[in-house]
Amino acid sequence: MRKFEKSVKLNNVCYDIRGPVMDEANRMVRNGETVLKLNIGNPAPFGFRAPDELIEKMSGNLTSTEGYSDSKGLFSAREAIVEYDKKKGIEGVTIDDVYTGNGVSELITMSMQGLLDYGDEVLVPAPDYPLWTASVTLAGGTAVHYICDEEAEWFPDINDIKKKITPRTKGIVVINPNNPTGALYPKELLMEIVKLAEENDLIIFADEIYDRLVMDGAVHTSIASLTDKCLCLTFNGLSKSHLIAGYRVGWVSLSGDKENARGYIEGLNLLSSMRLCSNVPAQSLIASALSMSAETDKMIQPGGRVYEQREFIYKAVNDIPGMSAVKPKAAFYIFPKLDVKRFNIKDDEKFALDVLREKKILFTHGGGFHWEVPDHFRIVYLPEISVLSEAMTKMKEFLADYRQVEY
Ligand SMILES: Cc1ncc(COP(=O)(O)O)c(C=O)c1O
Repeated sequence: MRKFEKSVKLNNVCYDIRGPVMDEANRMVRNGETVLKLNIGNPAPFGFRAPDELIEKMSGNLTSTEGYSDSKGLFSAREAIVEYDKKKGIEGVTIDDVYTGNGVSELITMSMQGLLDYGDEVLVPAPDYPLWTASVTLAGGTAVHYICDEEAEWFPDINDIKKKITPRTKGIVVINPNNPTGALYPKELLMEIVKLAEENDLIIFADEIYDRLVMDGAVHTSIASLTDKCLCLTFNGLSKSHLIAGYRVGWVSLSGDKENARGYIEGLNLLSSMRLCSNVPAQSLIASALSMSAETDKMIQPGGRVYEQREFIYKAVNDIPGMSAVKPKAAFYIFPKLDVKRFNIKDDEKFALDVLREKKILFTHGGGFHWEVPDHFRIVYLPEISVLSEAMTKMKEFLADYRQVEY
């Protein structure tokens, strides 16, 4: 019989947040076990509710959004995005420069498919949000990882970026605020990245989906507001800030040097048309969502849920012998470091499996974020403090006598 294999294009494409460790967790759940899933940044299962105003609005809009929209999206939605970009200091974005998508995810894949030829390189952070590496690879390109330095608050290492630029480098991905580290980059650092991009004719891919989830009174700077010389694609959406990840609504806006990117823009227009349009009822929420305050605004203030959970997890992680973490400044992730010598860890995926099987807690190992050394993992700190507390107590018990053994 003929066998059907996955396409060769998918070789080396991986998305471990929903990978083998999660498959094992799902198997355990099917067998009646209870698993605490701390692997996906999905607010709804942890009791975060979408604003009533948006739910009512979407219900009311269902009959007027039955048809396809313009492939780039509803005019009213794109108009609101242009205004949002202006408020963030991003100049020169017109309605035609905005594409709505079924989440930022769809647009990340599209932006790479439209640009890359075999052998083209894109600089991607390590650790990264793995969809970026997967999308570069799927599009035939090579993701070249630049290091973010834990010793320097997980900021991108500018010297490492410099070393990794080659004549084949077409762009650089900047995830700010960052998933999985929770870092927030200062303007001065972003200016250094802009300088390198300008000097080397690189496109900047700015993933800013967490820009409204910034704590401690800090201000987020959009990297696209710092240059008009290179092409910038700024990605954003409502999954996190308005707690509607399931509605699938995101966008990308183009700014800067569009003149020299006409061919690429033609490619993006073609790809956008090929998927007809993104979810129209969800698009119809964009203007309202961007005119109200983010649902998470209060949650990131002292006393708010996300803020207090961040405070809790940061302390709990650093209280466990052999584990430490930099304090996250934004989003809802922490990326702890493990003392690999103490625990004899050689394989971080196996470590995640060991914790899952023994303590029934699911998280993603650092390798899932293209972090090469097996000494990190990511915790999504969306659950209530009582749940996080139980998880961390179990983790402490687990690590008290853990020494990794090979299977
Ligand atoms: C950094 C980052 N970019 C993009 C996405 C995708 O978001 P969306 O729901 O808009 O597809 C996520 C989701 O977790 C993310 O963490």
